[in-house]
Amino acid sequence: MKGILRNFFKTEPVTNVSKDVQPKQLPRHIAIIMDGNGRWAGKRHVPRIIGHREGSQTLKRIVLKCKEIGIKYLTVYAFSTENWKRPKPEVDALMELLREFLSQAKGELAENNIKIKVLGDINTLPKDIQNEIIKVEKLTASNTGLWFNVALNYGSRNEIVNAVRAVCRDVETGRLNIDDITEKVFSRYMYTYEIPDPDLLIRTSGEYRLSNFLLWQLAYSELLFDKVNWPDFSEKHLLKAVEDYMSRERRFGGI
Ligand code: FPP
Repeated sequence: MKGILRNFFKTEPVTNVSKDVQPKQLPRHIAIIMDGNGRWAGKRHVPRIIGHREGSQTLKRIVLKCKEIGIKYLTVYAFSTENWKRPKPEVDALMELLREFLSQAKGELAENNIKIKVLGDINTLPKDIQNEIIKVEKLTASNTGLWFNVALNYGSRNEIVNAVRAVCRDVETGRLNIDDITEKVFSRYMYTYEIPDPDLLIRTSGEYRLSNFLLWQLAYSELLFDKVNWPDFSEKHLLKAVEDYMSRERRFGGI
């Protein structure tokens, strides 16, 4: 480990960045768009699902590393509302991977004091997966280590529209006054109502898009795009991203 991050963990004064650079704090919340599984597989002339399988292993390693370095919240984009458009065999294979991931999560992640939550509309997922999600969430609900969100059948515009509907219903029934609707109040209607917005968004595979992920919550997040395909994203890449974040100045619109 080198640079700012090493200094941080040794709790030595940071010496290699300019005085007026701000955060020098670990990001509390990291969001990740895990992209490039298909291209990783393509380069190796193996089926795309092998890329997803490898990506699932990467995810487990990165979750554990986040926990180890003291990240409080991690949110990953595992399956979007648009991913249903993929060929059925690929969707089925992703669902199978999800089953395996949830089953492993009940062991290793739960034992590591990791709290697991799913963001998204789970009602259209296969029934057995819905039941597993409920079990895993229950099992890990009181864990106090890393809070790990998995976005599944998630779309940000859909989340915002649903939030607007819920706000309207509360206005209609008199539980909320129109004049009391603030950004803070609106945030309470999102899947992420219990946790702070991401400080850092990482997207792998060299794509520069948000792809309908956390559009409301990423308003002030630092963005980091890494060229590496997700299956090759290692603990080192994570530390480098965190180090990059810590060298940045965040002004939130101020000066
Ligand atoms: C994007 O790669 C990745 C996904 C759509 C799925 C992400 C899933 C995993 C990392 C595996 C873990 C899965 C679960 C369900 C826990 P892509 O297929 O779009 O890659 P490409 O752009 O190179 O084709």
